[in-house]
Amino acid sequence: MEKLVIEGGLPLRGSVTVSGAKNSVLPLMAATMLTPGTHRFTNVPKLRDVTTMQRLLAHLGVDSQIEGRTLTLTTNELKSHEAPYDLVKTMRASVLVLCPLVARWGKARVSLPGGCAIGARPIDLHLKALKEMGATIEIKEGYVEASAEKLKGAHITFDTVTVTGTENLMMAASLAEGATTLKNAAREPEIGDLANYLNKMGAKIEGAGTDTLTIQGVSQLKPSEHSVIADRIEAATFLMAGAITGGEVTVKNCPSQFLEALIDRLKEAGCTFDIADHQITIKITQRLKSVNVTTSPFPGFATDLQAQFMALMTLAEGTSVISETIFENRFQHALELKRLGADITLDGRTAIIKGVEKLSGAPLMATDLRASASLILAGLAAEGTTIVDRAYHIDRGYEHIEERLARLGAKIKRQY
Ligand code: UD1
Repeated sequence: MEKLVIEGGLPLRGSVTVSGAKNSVLPLMAATMLTPGTHRFTNVPKLRDVTTMQRLLAHLGVDSQIEGRTLTLTTNELKSHEAPYDLVKTMRASVLVLCPLVARWGKARVSLPGGCAIGARPIDLHLKALKEMGATIEIKEGYVEASAEKLKGAHITFDTVTVTGTENLMMAASLAEGATTLKNAAREPEIGDLANYLNKMGAKIEGAGTDTLTIQGVSQLKPSEHSVIADRIEAATFLMAGAITGGEVTVKNCPSQFLEALIDRLKEAGCTFDIADHQITIKITQRLKSVNVTTSPFPGFATDLQAQFMALMTLAEGTSVISETIFENRFQHALELKRLGADITLDGRTAIIKGVEKLSGAPLMATDLRASASLILAGLAAEGTTIVDRAYHIDRGYEHIEERLARLGAKIKRQY
């Protein structure tokens, strides 16, 4: 199994260009099923999850071609309406094909994703909302079977803010008969990106970026072109790599308004920032200070940054309390960080981190995508050698991370 081997202790310096957002490109790819024709996306990241989505769409009948950072998808006839277990189990975002399949083709059979490393992650809210739009839904043999001759607009209030749930229902409502409102909708920038693309396709969506979306259904959509927004989670991870190593790192191609909650916390921790158009520089010249963090939906502190932030807090002066409110089991990195000498106590969804003077390198096991980023950050700051096993987790969401960190001065290589 591939591993990342890190010789820690070097301050990172330089600049890195942020890739397109994983969490944007996946729903955009699913949206291509809403209409026949050829769609073109630019600024597409080279990620394992993109390849998995290409495989899923190919199974359904969508041809795709990638050239550099441009992805072309052509959808004409449907070959299947089933998202099989083998693909869904490796990538939960596969569930994003559910609503496009029902909205355009009248039926879908999508494997239930099941639990995952960070929590139960049900899709009950997607299903409840789709039912409210007139779909018939049954669970059979581990699959959701959904059908509707024509979806009807509805007034839907999500019990919990759900990102892919909001995206799925935006796609369903775009081709439904009549108007839909989605209340308590997610406000993540990736929702705005999908809404922009659907509107380019001829959809009528208003309110993206607020908690209420109104969508006037149209009878058909047309393919278009779109550049994927920057990956704010990747950008944040590079900024934190600068912070944890006491260096100075510039991330290019990412607007700072995607990262306000993180930047505020990092300022409290003693980092300074230079913020320009689409460019953020972080610098730190003193030991990090402890800061408390509670995760929440956008614009709050992202759960996808909690693991990386915890790595920083292991070396900060004082005690930090990190509360995870989105997922119930998202502290697996804490147990690995302790192997480097971190002082962390877990109490349910709260972690108490007493900063230590130094970490020392050790072999570690990555358990999920963001946990692996946390372990890499800790390894960059630890004395000696850290080996992060199961590197495939990181490749799901970070493009060639070891090459880009090496260009910033890190000693990191992949071991096959
Ligand atoms: C998306 C992101 C993921 C991020 C997460 C939270 C993508 C592809 N993935 O995941 O990186 O960590 O948002 O910001 O965009 N829930 C239910 N029932 C549902 C749906 C969700 O109870 O039907 C709960 C979940 O268990 C979780 C919370 O709602 O506790 C938020 O989950 P959700 O926003 O749906 O996460 P994803 O869309 O899967």
